[in-house]
Amino acid sequence: MSASNPANQIADTSALVLLWCGAEIYDSSAVQRYAQMLDLSRGEELFAICNDIWPHYESVIRFRKICIQKEAKSILSQGDIRQVIIPGAGFSMLGVELVDLFPNIKVYELDAYQMQEKQAIVNNVFASTDRELCCMTVDVRETEECCKSLAAAGWDSHEPSLMIIEGLTYYLTKESVRRQWQHLPEKSKIIVEYLVPYEQVNGNRRAIPKLVFDAIMNYCSGDLEVSHWSEDELKREVGVQLDFCHSLSDIESWMAGERRFFTERHEGWIEIAGLTRCTP
Ligand SMILES: C[S@@+](CC[C@H](N)C(=O)[O-])C[C@H]1O[C@@H](n2cnc3c(N)ncnc32)[C@H](O)[C@@H]1O
Repeated sequence: MSASNPANQIADTSALVLLWCGAEIYDSSAVQRYAQMLDLSRGEELFAICNDIWPHYESVIRFRKICIQKEAKSILSQGDIRQVIIPGAGFSMLGVELVDLFPNIKVYELDAYQMQEKQAIVNNVFASTDRELCCMTVDVRETEECCKSLAAAGWDSHEPSLMIIEGLTYYLTKESVRRQWQHLPEKSKIIVEYLVPYEQVNGNRRAIPKLVFDAIMNYCSGDLEVSHWSEDELKREVGVQLDFCHSLSDIESWMAGERRFFTERHEGWIEIAGLTRCTP
């Protein structure tokens, strides 16, 4: 992937996600200011395609984002971790929220596209504050390059970090996903969102993720193959320990009073796991 290749439309998926779930789930005033400066029109074509496949797709993205921010805030509240890395951040609002609510942390966002544009917006949002959110243009598959860019921006590779991998694993090979956390020191935490193998999704739901991801890949016109992960695979991963795994059904059950789209685990197709980096 070349960051200067305008033909690659994978970056539009970042706007797509925000059309489904934006500032409404966040607490900070910084996110509200940031949201007003975004232009999400690049995601509209995909938004219409995906909503035609399943009109409730918004719930998938909303539940995933609610879960990820809850877990990230819980880890950062403990106070031991003060560096956050978000590969494939796109225009996500999470880094803005975290750096506003936890002023002593530094957030590093990596993406192959639109990072200069995002940095300009972020600088505007945090003008006259000392909040540190650094947006870097890099292909996250190039681990050495990522480490160099992170170090140049002040990241301390010996201090534990929180890495948040959201909306990205399906576009990377498994080896590339592993390489995201392999350069983190022990005691680092990783929150990773992934697509479960289609055969693990109930028959009445299986076509939805398949059609949506086929449509996205088709739109991106790349030669990408969708990657899948499972809780069992993550349990067997070397160099990380599995701390938690939440299904869409778990997350929906936290929100009393909401309509139940995911009555049990296998009605959903994405999950969010928490890992701790450890010695192999
Ligand atoms: C579906 S969006 C997710 C954005 C954000 N993480 C979220 O969940 O709201 C996928 C993002 O990953 C980025 N991306 C995909 N492959 C990448 C790669 N190899 N290197 C850097 N960024 C990549 C895209 O540019 C896009 O911004």
